Amino acid sequence: MQEEKEPSAAEISENLEPQLGGSLENFDFSPSGPHTVHVPVMLREIMAALDPQPGQVIVDGTLGGAGHTRALAEKVGKDGLVISLDRDPGAIERAEAALKGLPVILAESNFSELQEVLDEIKVGKVDGMMLDLGLSSDQLADRERGFSFNSDGPLDLRFNINEGKPASHLVNTMKEANLADLIYEYGEERFSRRIARKICEVRRERPIRTANELAEIVRRCVPRSPHETIDRATRTFQALRIAVNGEMQALEKILREIPYCVRPGGKVAILSFHSLEDRRVKDAFREKPFYRIVNKKPILADEEEVARNPRSRSAKLRIAEIVEE
Ligand SMILES: C[S@@+](CC[C@H](N)C(=O)[O-])C[C@H]1O[C@@H](n2cnc3c(N)ncnc32)[C@H](O)[C@@H]1O
Repeated sequence: MQEEKEPSAAEISENLEPQLGGSLENFDFSPSGPHTVHVPVMLREIMAALDPQPGQVIVDGTLGGAGHTRALAEKVGKDGLVISLDRDPGAIERAEAALKGLPVILAESNFSELQEVLDEIKVGKVDGMMLDLGLSSDQLADRERGFSFNSDGPLDLRFNINEGKPASHLVNTMKEANLADLIYEYGEERFSRRIARKICEVRRERPIRTANELAEIVRRCVPRSPHETIDRATRTFQALRIAVNGEMQALEKILREIPYCVRPGGKVAILSFHSLEDRRVKDAFREKPFYRIVNKKPILADEEEVARNPRSRSAKLRIAEIVEE
Protein backbone atom coordinates (compact mmCIF):
# COMPACT_ATOMS: atom_id res chain seq x y z
CA MET A 1 0.00 0.00 0.00
CA GLN A 2 1.25 3.47 -0.81
CA GLU A 3 2.28 5.63 2.15
CA GLU A 4 0.37 8.87 2.61
CA LYS A 5 2.25 11.88 1.31
CA GLU A 6 2.81 14.44 4.04
CA PRO A 7 1.48 17.92 3.22
CA SER A 8 4.03 20.69 2.93
CA ALA A 9 4.11 23.54 5.44
CA ALA A 10 2.76 25.85 2.73
CA GLU A 11 -0.20 23.56 1.98
CA ILE A 12 -1.00 23.35 5.67
CA SER A 13 -0.98 27.05 6.29
CA GLU A 14 -2.97 27.63 3.09
CA ASN A 15 -5.66 25.27 4.38
CA LEU A 16 -5.66 26.65 7.88
CA GLU A 17 -5.12 30.34 7.25
CA PRO A 18 -8.78 31.10 6.45
CA GLN A 19 -9.79 29.56 9.78
CA LEU A 20 -7.23 31.44 11.83
CA GLY A 21 -8.80 34.48 13.43
CA GLY A 22 -6.57 37.57 13.54
CA SER A 23 -6.14 37.41 17.30
CA LEU A 24 -4.75 33.89 17.08
CA GLU A 25 -1.71 35.33 15.34
CA ASN A 26 -0.75 36.81 18.68
CA PHE A 27 -0.50 33.54 20.57
CA ASP A 28 2.33 33.23 22.99
CA PHE A 29 4.13 30.04 22.05
CA SER A 30 6.42 29.86 25.06
CA PRO A 31 5.72 27.58 28.05
CA SER A 32 2.46 28.72 29.59
CA GLY A 33 4.10 29.92 32.82
CA PRO A 34 6.95 29.41 35.29
CA HIS A 35 5.28 26.19 36.53
CA THR A 36 6.31 24.34 33.35
CA VAL A 37 9.09 23.92 30.79
CA HIS A 38 6.70 22.37 28.26
CA VAL A 39 6.10 24.33 25.05
CA PRO A 40 2.69 23.51 23.54
CA VAL A 41 2.84 21.91 20.10
CA MET A 42 0.75 23.16 17.13
CA LEU A 43 -1.19 25.50 19.38
CA ARG A 44 -2.42 27.65 16.50
CA GLU A 45 -3.49 24.67 14.42
CA ILE A 46 -5.37 23.06 17.32
CA MET A 47 -7.13 26.34 18.15
CA ALA A 48 -8.08 26.69 14.50
CA ALA A 49 -9.39 23.13 14.43
CA LEU A 50 -11.48 23.34 17.60
CA ASP A 51 -12.40 26.99 17.06
CA PRO A 52 -13.61 27.41 20.67
CA GLN A 53 -16.40 29.97 21.07
CA PRO A 54 -17.38 31.96 24.18
CA GLY A 55 -19.61 29.83 26.40
CA GLN A 56 -18.53 26.46 24.98
CA VAL A 57 -17.32 23.45 26.97
CA ILE A 58 -14.11 21.82 25.74
CA VAL A 59 -12.13 18.85 27.05
CA ASP A 60 -8.34 18.77 27.10
CA GLY A 61 -7.62 15.11 27.90
CA THR A 62 -3.89 15.71 28.41
CA LEU A 63 -3.28 18.80 30.55
CA GLY A 64 0.55 18.52 30.83
CA GLY A 65 1.99 22.02 31.20
CA ALA A 66 -1.48 23.49 30.51
CA GLY A 67 -0.43 25.35 27.35
CA HIS A 68 -3.44 24.24 25.30
CA THR A 69 -5.79 24.37 28.30
CA ARG A 70 -4.90 28.00 28.97
CA ALA A 71 -5.43 29.07 25.35
CA LEU A 72 -8.77 27.20 25.22
CA ALA A 73 -9.92 28.69 28.54
CA GLU A 74 -9.12 32.20 27.37
CA LYS A 75 -11.26 31.63 24.27
CA VAL A 76 -14.32 30.04 25.93
CA GLY A 77 -14.30 32.82 28.52
CA LYS A 78 -16.10 33.07 31.84
CA ASP A 79 -19.34 31.60 30.49
CA GLY A 80 -17.55 28.56 29.10
CA LEU A 81 -15.52 25.77 30.64
CA VAL A 82 -12.43 23.69 29.92
CA ILE A 83 -12.27 20.28 31.60
CA SER A 84 -8.65 19.13 31.72
CA LEU A 85 -7.47 15.67 32.68
CA ASP A 86 -4.06 14.26 33.46
CA ARG A 87 -2.95 10.97 34.99
CA ASP A 88 0.01 12.66 36.57
CA PRO A 89 -0.86 14.24 39.94
CA GLY A 90 2.23 16.46 39.57
CA ALA A 91 0.86 18.00 36.36
CA ILE A 92 -2.45 18.79 38.08
CA GLU A 93 -0.69 20.31 41.07
CA ARG A 94 1.60 22.49 38.92
CA ALA A 95 -1.26 23.75 36.77
CA GLU A 96 -3.64 24.52 39.63
CA ALA A 97 -2.06 27.80 40.68
CA ALA A 98 -1.12 28.74 37.12
CA LEU A 99 -4.73 28.52 35.90
CA LYS A 100 -6.31 30.43 38.80
CA GLY A 101 -9.10 32.70 37.65
CA LEU A 102 -9.66 30.80 34.39
CA PRO A 103 -12.78 28.70 33.75
CA VAL A 104 -11.05 25.33 34.13
CA ILE A 105 -11.89 22.16 36.04
CA LEU A 106 -8.89 19.86 36.60
CA ALA A 107 -9.27 16.12 37.14
CA GLU A 108 -6.57 13.59 37.97
CA SER A 109 -7.80 10.88 35.66
CA ASN A 110 -7.01 8.75 32.66
CA PHE A 111 -8.70 10.21 29.57
CA SER A 112 -10.04 6.72 28.96
CA GLU A 113 -12.35 7.44 31.94
CA LEU A 114 -13.68 10.66 30.44
CA GLN A 115 -17.30 9.51 30.41
CA GLU A 116 -17.18 8.89 34.16
CA VAL A 117 -15.51 12.26 34.78
CA LEU A 118 -18.23 14.08 32.79
CA ASP A 119 -20.95 12.16 34.66
CA GLU A 120 -19.39 13.02 37.99
CA ILE A 121 -19.33 16.75 37.30
CA LYS A 122 -22.76 16.53 35.64
CA VAL A 123 -21.68 17.72 32.22
CA GLY A 124 -23.34 16.19 29.15
CA LYS A 125 -21.70 16.05 25.75
CA VAL A 126 -19.05 18.72 25.24
CA ASP A 127 -18.42 20.95 22.21
CA GLY A 128 -14.92 19.74 21.41
CA MET A 129 -11.99 17.76 22.65
CA MET A 130 -8.25 17.46 22.22
CA LEU A 131 -5.54 14.97 23.12
CA ASP A 132 -1.81 15.73 23.01
CA LEU A 133 -0.45 12.22 23.51
CA GLY A 134 2.68 11.01 25.25
CA LEU A 135 4.78 12.71 27.85
CA SER A 136 5.51 16.34 28.65
CA SER A 137 8.87 18.08 28.86
CA ASP A 138 8.20 18.46 32.61
CA GLN A 139 8.10 14.68 32.97
CA LEU A 140 11.19 14.32 30.79
CA ALA A 141 13.05 16.79 32.99
CA ASP A 142 12.13 14.98 36.21
CA ARG A 143 15.16 12.82 36.98
CA GLU A 144 13.21 10.65 39.40
CA ARG A 145 10.95 9.25 36.65
CA GLY A 146 13.47 7.69 34.27
CA PHE A 147 11.97 9.23 31.10
CA SER A 148 15.31 10.75 30.20
CA PHE A 149 17.79 8.06 29.10
CA ASN A 150 20.72 9.83 30.66
CA SER A 151 19.34 10.11 34.13
CA ASP A 152 20.53 7.92 36.95
CA GLY A 153 17.02 8.08 38.40
CA PRO A 154 14.93 4.93 38.82
CA LEU A 155 13.67 3.26 35.64
CA ASP A 156 10.02 4.04 36.33
CA LEU A 157 8.33 5.55 33.23
CA ARG A 158 4.85 5.73 34.78
CA PHE A 159 2.72 8.84 34.28
CA ASN A 160 1.27 8.17 37.72
CA ILE A 161 3.65 6.49 40.13
CA ASN A 162 0.71 5.37 42.28
CA GLU A 163 -0.65 3.12 39.51
CA GLY A 164 0.75 -0.19 38.30
CA LYS A 165 4.39 -1.27 38.36
CA PRO A 166 7.51 0.60 37.22
CA ALA A 167 9.33 -0.30 34.00
CA SER A 168 12.19 -1.80 36.04
CA HIS A 169 9.74 -4.50 37.14
CA LEU A 170 9.06 -5.53 33.53
CA VAL A 171 12.72 -5.38 32.59
CA ASN A 172 13.79 -7.52 35.54
CA THR A 173 11.02 -10.12 35.52
CA MET A 174 9.56 -10.61 32.05
CA LYS A 175 10.45 -13.71 30.03
CA GLU A 176 13.01 -12.99 27.34
CA ALA A 177 10.65 -13.85 24.45
CA ASN A 178 7.86 -11.67 25.85
CA LEU A 179 10.22 -8.78 26.44
CA ALA A 180 11.47 -9.07 22.85
CA ASP A 181 7.89 -9.09 21.53
CA LEU A 182 6.99 -6.06 23.62
CA ILE A 183 10.01 -4.06 22.41
CA TYR A 184 9.24 -5.08 18.83
CA GLU A 185 5.54 -4.33 18.97
CA TYR A 186 5.48 -1.07 20.94
CA GLY A 187 8.92 0.20 19.96
CA GLU A 188 8.97 -1.02 16.34
CA GLU A 189 12.58 -1.95 17.17
CA ARG A 190 14.28 -4.29 14.67
CA PHE A 191 16.89 -5.35 17.20
CA SER A 192 14.38 -6.33 19.88
CA ARG A 193 15.57 -9.95 20.21
CA ARG A 194 19.16 -8.92 20.67
CA ILE A 195 18.16 -6.29 23.26
CA ALA A 196 15.98 -8.71 25.23
CA ARG A 197 18.80 -11.29 25.25
CA LYS A 198 21.30 -8.73 26.57
CA ILE A 199 18.86 -7.48 29.22
CA CYS A 200 18.40 -11.04 30.48
CA GLU A 201 22.15 -11.63 30.49
CA VAL A 202 22.79 -8.50 32.56
CA ARG A 203 19.92 -9.07 35.00
CA ARG A 204 21.25 -12.53 35.83
CA GLU A 205 24.23 -10.71 37.38
CA ARG A 206 22.32 -7.79 38.98
CA PRO A 207 18.91 -6.10 38.60
CA ILE A 208 18.66 -3.20 36.15
CA ARG A 209 17.52 -0.23 38.20
CA THR A 210 18.22 3.07 36.46
CA ALA A 211 17.37 4.67 33.11
CA ASN A 212 20.98 5.12 32.06
CA GLU A 213 21.85 1.50 32.90
CA LEU A 214 19.15 0.31 30.51
CA ALA A 215 20.06 2.90 27.86
CA GLU A 216 23.68 1.72 27.90
CA ILE A 217 22.62 -1.93 27.48
CA VAL A 218 20.36 -1.06 24.54
CA ARG A 219 22.98 1.11 22.84
CA ARG A 220 25.35 -1.87 22.86
CA CYS A 221 22.78 -3.90 20.90
CA VAL A 222 21.68 -1.37 18.27
CA PRO A 223 24.21 -0.54 15.56
CA ARG A 224 24.96 3.10 14.87
CA SER A 225 23.41 4.42 11.71
CA PRO A 226 25.05 7.21 9.70
CA HIS A 227 21.72 9.06 9.55
CA GLU A 228 21.00 8.67 13.24
CA THR A 229 18.86 11.49 14.56
CA ILE A 230 17.53 9.81 17.71
CA ASP A 231 19.23 8.05 20.59
CA ARG A 232 19.50 4.29 19.95
CA ALA A 233 17.63 3.65 23.20
CA THR A 234 14.58 5.68 22.11
CA ARG A 235 12.51 2.81 20.71
CA THR A 236 13.05 0.53 23.69
CA PHE A 237 12.12 3.29 26.16
CA GLN A 238 9.05 4.11 24.08
CA ALA A 239 7.97 0.47 24.17
CA LEU A 240 8.36 0.18 27.93
CA ARG A 241 6.58 3.48 28.56
CA ILE A 242 3.65 2.44 26.37
CA ALA A 243 3.44 -0.88 28.20
CA VAL A 244 3.64 0.34 31.79
CA ASN A 245 1.05 3.06 31.14
CA GLY A 246 -1.30 0.94 29.02
CA GLU A 247 -1.17 3.78 26.48
CA MET A 248 -2.59 1.89 23.51
CA GLN A 249 -5.50 0.53 25.53
CA ALA A 250 -6.35 4.04 26.81
CA LEU A 251 -6.20 5.48 23.29
CA GLU A 252 -8.34 2.71 21.80
CA LYS A 253 -10.95 3.07 24.53
CA ILE A 254 -11.32 6.83 24.14
CA LEU A 255 -11.46 6.53 20.33
CA ARG A 256 -14.47 4.22 20.79
CA GLU A 257 -16.12 6.37 23.45
CA ILE A 258 -15.63 9.88 22.06
CA PRO A 259 -19.15 10.03 20.55
CA TYR A 260 -20.61 9.54 24.04
CA CYS A 261 -18.60 12.55 25.23
CA VAL A 262 -18.60 15.00 22.29
CA ARG A 263 -21.79 16.27 20.63
CA PRO A 264 -22.48 15.84 16.91
CA GLY A 265 -20.83 18.70 15.07
CA GLY A 266 -18.11 18.93 17.74
CA LYS A 267 -14.47 18.54 16.70
CA VAL A 268 -11.79 16.23 18.03
CA ALA A 269 -8.11 17.09 17.54
CA ILE A 270 -5.45 14.48 18.35
CA LEU A 271 -1.71 15.08 18.32
CA SER A 272 0.45 11.98 18.22
CA PHE A 273 4.20 11.57 18.31
CA HIS A 274 4.91 8.12 16.88
CA SER A 275 3.52 5.95 14.14
CA LEU A 276 1.79 3.41 16.41
CA GLU A 277 -0.42 6.10 17.92
CA ASP A 278 -0.96 7.91 14.66
CA ARG A 279 -2.03 4.70 12.92
CA ARG A 280 -4.61 3.97 15.63
CA VAL A 281 -6.06 7.48 15.31
CA LYS A 282 -6.04 7.36 11.51
CA ASP A 283 -7.76 3.96 11.41
CA ALA A 284 -10.39 4.91 13.98
CA PHE A 285 -11.23 8.15 12.16
CA ARG A 286 -11.57 6.20 8.90
CA GLU A 287 -13.42 3.14 10.15
CA LYS A 288 -15.77 4.31 12.85
CA PRO A 289 -19.01 5.66 11.43
CA PHE A 290 -19.30 8.51 13.93
CA TYR A 291 -16.20 10.33 12.66
CA ARG A 292 -15.98 12.59 9.62
CA ILE A 293 -12.36 13.23 8.75
CA VAL A 294 -11.50 16.93 8.50
CA ASN A 295 -7.90 16.64 7.26
CA LYS A 296 -7.17 13.61 5.07
CA LYS A 297 -3.44 13.90 5.64
CA PRO A 298 -1.98 14.63 9.05
CA ILE A 299 -0.97 18.21 9.73
CA LEU A 300 2.69 18.66 10.62
CA ALA A 301 4.41 21.46 12.50
CA ASP A 302 5.81 24.09 10.14
CA GLU A 303 9.51 24.78 9.79
CA GLU A 304 9.42 27.76 12.08
CA GLU A 305 7.84 25.71 14.90
CA VAL A 306 10.27 22.82 14.43
CA ALA A 307 13.18 25.24 14.65
CA ARG A 308 11.71 26.85 17.78
CA ASN A 309 10.56 23.61 19.42
CA PRO A 310 12.36 20.46 18.17
CA ARG A 311 9.84 18.30 20.05
CA SER A 312 7.25 19.26 17.44
CA ARG A 313 9.27 17.57 14.66
CA SER A 314 7.54 14.20 15.00
CA ALA A 315 4.05 15.51 15.81
CA LYS A 316 1.07 14.64 13.61
CA LEU A 317 -2.29 16.28 14.07
CA ARG A 318 -5.51 14.63 12.95
CA ILE A 319 -8.91 16.25 13.22
CA ALA A 320 -12.37 14.74 12.92
CA GLU A 321 -15.91 15.98 13.37
CA ILE A 322 -18.46 13.91 15.25
CA VAL A 323 -21.45 13.04 13.13
CA GLU A 324 -24.77 11.58 14.16
CA GLU A 325 -25.01 7.90 13.22
C1 LIG B 1 2.36 16.06 25.73
S1 LIG B 1 1.82 16.33 27.34
C2 LIG B 1 0.55 17.52 27.15
C3 LIG B 1 1.09 18.91 27.03
C4 LIG B 1 0.04 20.00 27.03
N1 LIG B 1 -0.85 19.89 25.91
C5 LIG B 1 0.69 21.36 27.05
O1 LIG B 1 0.62 22.07 26.06
O2 LIG B 1 1.32 21.72 28.05
C6 LIG B 1 0.92 14.89 27.68
C7 LIG B 1 0.34 14.80 29.09
O3 LIG B 1 -0.69 13.82 29.02
C8 LIG B 1 -0.64 13.00 30.15
N2 LIG B 1 -1.23 11.72 29.75
C9 LIG B 1 -0.71 10.77 28.94
N3 LIG B 1 -1.58 9.76 28.78
C10 LIG B 1 -2.68 10.09 29.49
C11 LIG B 1 -3.94 9.45 29.71
N4 LIG B 1 -4.22 8.26 29.16
N5 LIG B 1 -4.85 10.09 30.46
C12 LIG B 1 -4.59 11.30 31.01
N6 LIG B 1 -3.40 11.94 30.86
C13 LIG B 1 -2.47 11.35 30.10
C14 LIG B 1 0.81 12.94 30.55
O4 LIG B 1 0.91 12.68 31.93
C15 LIG B 1 1.30 14.35 30.16
O5 LIG B 1 1.24 15.21 31.26
